[in-house]
Amino acid sequence: MQYRIGIEESEIGNSEYIGILSSSKYENLARYFHPWHAPRFDRSMQITIPGGTLIIETLDFSRIAAYSLCAGDDLWIGSGVRWRIRPGENNVTPTVKLYRMSYDPLQPPDSRRSRAHWFGSIPRISVGTRQQMAAALRSMRLDDPTLVGGPADIVQSLLDSDDSTFLYWHPLLIDNDGVVLVVIKASRPIDIDTYLSRDHALIEALLIRAVHDGGEALVWLRFVLGRHLDIEENYLFPKWVEVGGDEKEVPKLLRDHHFIRDYLDHFDSPDFKAHIFFNLLDGHDEKEERSVYSKIKDVERSAGTSGEAIRDISRLSVKMC
Ligand SMILES: [Fe+2]
Ligand SMILES: [Fe+2]
Repeated sequence: MQYRIGIEESEIGNSEYIGILSSSKYENLARYFHPWHAPRFDRSMQITIPGGTLIIETLDFSRIAAYSLCAGDDLWIGSGVRWRIRPGENNVTPTVKLYRMSYDPLQPPDSRRSRAHWFGSIPRISVGTRQQMAAALRSMRLDDPTLVGGPADIVQSLLDSDDSTFLYWHPLLIDNDGVVLVVIKASRPIDIDTYLSRDHALIEALLIRAVHDGGEALVWLRFVLGRHLDIEENYLFPKWVEVGGDEKEVPKLLRDHHFIRDYLDHFDSPDFKAHIFFNLLDGHDEKEERSVYSKIKDVERSAGTSGEAIRDISRLSVKMC
């Protein structure tokens, strides 16, 4: 089978081979890709295996898709697509080749870089009261995202919902006029690494839309990215150190945040370079997904407290109302 995820056949033809990730450098290549990972904005990856089967997962807006890779199969992952080897699968060592994709540095990054199209296809609804929010939740289809606008206290009805273990939301805006949220009623629980990696993907999608359209997407980008950085600084990094993360890495992550905020402040400036901003986010997000998020996820899993970090973040969101 041939799988192309987030990449066209013509782009594969125009890709330049860079090199292969060797298992001598990465002690256990399968384990190396257990955390979520996305090829950078000008990169793509080709994955094959010598024998057996290997489950590759990709992160969509509201789902995790799984591909069962066999010998002879050929799987390409385009830039910005978050993927991983299903955690627990260690027996088959994949061959992972890296490619560089051409782009014009004078043009804004195009939408192939991200899941920018997600927003075009999400149904939007408005609710006026918590009761209407509760009714909307009941009629939501499992694993389909919905964009919900309404008064600020509908967030409380999400927290109070009986389904709260399987209910996830990403606020796009919380201000005096109310809230705009992406709400997902999921068929199964997710871990903190998946929630926050999806936040990264959401930020990239908003960045692309903001670069091309400005307007609503730029307002949402500023809010989503600001909230994301605040959550990491006030909750996640301290928690990571508490569970054994390397304290010396925190100032480096905070320095990245400083540069990210600075870029965001200069978004409207003629000097703003979207490709450089993407590069900065790519490197930073990968560090977090590989070390911070996956460590907290592993600790929660072994302690049997999966989902607790997401619930803490949700309560933080309510405080921000
Ligand atoms: Fe961060
Ligand atoms: Fe992050």
